[in-house]
Amino acid sequence: MRLTRTAIVRVTCFYFMQNTILVTGGAGFIGSNFILQRMERDAASIVNLDGLTYAGNLRNLDAIAGNPRYEFVHGDIGDRGLVRSLLQRCRPRAIVHFAAESHVDRSIRGPDDFIRTNVDGTFALLEETRAYWPGLDERERADFRFLQVSTDEVYGSLGPDDRPFRETTAYAPNSPYAASKAASDHLVRAYRHTYGLPTLTTNCSNNYGRFQFPEKLIPLMILNARDGKPLPVYGDGQNVRDWLYVEDHCEAIATVLARGRAGETYNVGGWNEKKNLEIVETICDLVDEFAPRGGASRRELITFVKDRPGHDRRYAMDARKIERELNWKPKETFESGIRKTVRWYLENEEWVRDVTSGSYRKWIETHYSPEAEPRRS
Ligand code: NAD
Ligand code: TYD
Repeated sequence: MRLTRTAIVRVTCFYFMQNTILVTGGAGFIGSNFILQRMERDAASIVNLDGLTYAGNLRNLDAIAGNPRYEFVHGDIGDRGLVRSLLQRCRPRAIVHFAAESHVDRSIRGPDDFIRTNVDGTFALLEETRAYWPGLDERERADFRFLQVSTDEVYGSLGPDDRPFRETTAYAPNSPYAASKAASDHLVRAYRHTYGLPTLTTNCSNNYGRFQFPEKLIPLMILNARDGKPLPVYGDGQNVRDWLYVEDHCEAIATVLARGRAGETYNVGGWNEKKNLEIVETICDLVDEFAPRGGASRRELITFVKDRPGHDRRYAMDARKIERELNWKPKETFESGIRKTVRWYLENEEWVRDVTSGSYRKWIETHYSPEAEPRRS
């Protein structure tokens, strides 16, 4: 779906230059968790620029809707006029760039939006940042940061005995999503190298937690298990992902923003590799515990389905650099994080109802129907 090129600027700017952060994609899963966490823990003002695609949900931010330190702006990161006027008006000390198309399966069915937002959109944002940054005074220029939120998927797939990805691992993206993120990371790198823009890049492993759109593995499985629907595991279910609780990721981003060295990349991960089947079984057991259904185990719902084309076998992050240099470590264990997460989806029925209507149903029907094949043109 194309976004309109108009923006609704709800509030006039009242920020102090020194302490405003422009967040892009702050109505999505990680962005909204980041904004809520930082509003609670920091004194910064936050301007949230989000195009509200299917994955953006302003309800995630209800708790801060009236907060004078928070402003929402509805618009596309590719709208250069809008981004320019926003930068001039709000004069942020940092940009934290989350906005993206983020679902691998959607990128396989239709890569266009991934190129448009992740590549062209990031390029537009970088160009406007390059125009804005030199106009700051010397101290502001030195303190300014552009933080690119990226993924482990840019590094490609690991074999069972390979070492986890390091910051020096060569990029080898395999899906259109990963390729579009890799392209945007390269643009960020080039803007640092060529124009001296003070950039930071974080590459993080798979996140889980509240507010994740239920097209992704963990919330999809929780809701299907709750409803007694089949749990579609791709291929043999032995693919490995390295899971991190979203709050830990948000803390890592805030840490890199505060203390990271300009021009550097930091890998973020939970040292928490799990096979997909193991994740789904854990979810089944927790849903059985919290919402028992007459003795029958939810594990009976597990259904092996056709594999994702080009499915990466294993991701794993070596997060020693951020631990050593910036003293960041994940706080949540997988066992406690997944319990909280399952509970949250079971207890927030209204949120679930809101996001699983309309276009969501269509995606599920199309994607999981046995006849569904990725579109080739
Ligand atoms: P998400 O899909 O939940 O949210 C994306 C947000 O960006 C939505 O609010 C959407 O409305 C907005 N957006 C999309 N296109 C836009 C555009 N053109 N202009 C303005 N806003 C637009 O994504 P997420 O899971 O929260 O991921 C956020 C970022 O973190 C992404 O860059 C993703 O690549 C990265 N990341 C995600 C994970 C993960 O496990 N989810 C892991 C590592 C990195
Ligand atoms: P996903 O949440 O889409 O994240 P990513 O592809 O970015 O890692 O998928 C996580 C893993 O779960 C991945 O290996 C694909 C698998 N998966 C399934 O087996 N079934 C599903 O229905 C989904 C959505 C994912």
